[in-house]
Amino acid sequence: MNMKPYRILALETSCDETAAAVVEDGRRILSNAVFSQIDLHVLYGGVVPEIASRAHVDACDRMIDRALDDAGMKLKDIDALAVTYGPGLVGALLIGVNCMKGLSFASGKPLIPVNHIEGHVSANFLTHPELMPPFVCLVVSGGHSHLVIVNDYGNYTLLGQTADDAAGEAFDKGARVLGLPYPGGPHLSELAEGGDPKYLPLPRPKAEGKYDFSFSGLKTAFINACHTLEQKGQLLIQREGEARLAPEIAEGNEARSLAQAKRGARPIADLAASYQQAIVDCLCDKTMLAAKDSGLKTLCIAGGVSANKLLRRQMAAQAEERGFTLCMPEISLCTDNAAMIASAAYYRRERTAPPDLNAVPSLKLQS
Ligand code: KG4
Ligand code: ZN
Repeated sequence: MNMKPYRILALETSCDETAAAVVEDGRRILSNAVFSQIDLHVLYGGVVPEIASRAHVDACDRMIDRALDDAGMKLKDIDALAVTYGPGLVGALLIGVNCMKGLSFASGKPLIPVNHIEGHVSANFLTHPELMPPFVCLVVSGGHSHLVIVNDYGNYTLLGQTADDAAGEAFDKGARVLGLPYPGGPHLSELAEGGDPKYLPLPRPKAEGKYDFSFSGLKTAFINACHTLEQKGQLLIQREGEARLAPEIAEGNEARSLAQAKRGARPIADLAASYQQAIVDCLCDKTMLAAKDSGLKTLCIAGGVSANKLLRRQMAAQAEERGFTLCMPEISLCTDNAAMIASAAYYRRERTAPPDLNAVPSLKLQS
């Protein structure tokens, strides 16, 4: 039977990426345009919500045009529209929701509202055409650390989540202490590749729930250890802001840095590697436990932190040891994008948005 393909144009604006994509039948990417606002926020060491909203206003139309162009399509070739309506920054979400509500109203095409976390899970459907529920999924990004069972498309059981910081947040805050620019996760991970993960003994904190995470104790232990080393003169951290704001401090740092190198002080890479190892151990332990208890044989990871090389390696090794099939999104689909939103939308295309659809900044993953 030759079925007509179903094409969805999706928009994602929940944080600091303005992204638009066209996906066919929930699985085939026809275009995937991402405008990253990192350059606008790097100066402030994190996302500034007001700046993010304004940048989304500027970029939305442009990214939608680009997604259609890259797919070689016009709006008339699209069957439905989709948009992220939560969780995320309220101002940023509102730009996307209102943009797509307008486009839906003007074009008469249905609009499908999508949960951002569900989008991350669905990135796996794009990379692995054979993947079908049920499976266990670890979703780890800047705002979320969730362990879920994907019972069916759009149907989830939440097993556990973070009691405090998200895994990406823990990476970013640790990176900041080491003087790395925003977003710290990828920088810390790159630095850690050359370091000794056993250098600094760090705790693997336990959370209350069997499948819950907790990163704030680990983060505090790491920050305290760095400060202690700094005070002892065994560690020099040249923070970007210091260098920019006070050249004399930067010069002083350089002089100390030389002295430190002569004394053979531990390189920052060892600290980064120790911290990364602790976060990854926590994530892998809980995920393997959940997968074993669930009785399911397939395991997925998703979200910005799933781009982390050590996490991918360690998950792959442990999954193989225990006989699980592991699926991971390709790297470009781990961080925020609209293709994953279009994929999630395809599997809930019967649930179109009411005319009064609003942004829901603290939206939970629903069954
Ligand atoms: O999914 P995402 O793009 O946005 C949110 O939904 O939050 O995730 C961004 C988070 C940031 O905290 C970033 O530092 C982290 O993912 N991240 C990484 C890596 N790449 C992105 N963390 C560790 N290692 C990486 N390679
Ligand atoms: Zn995300």
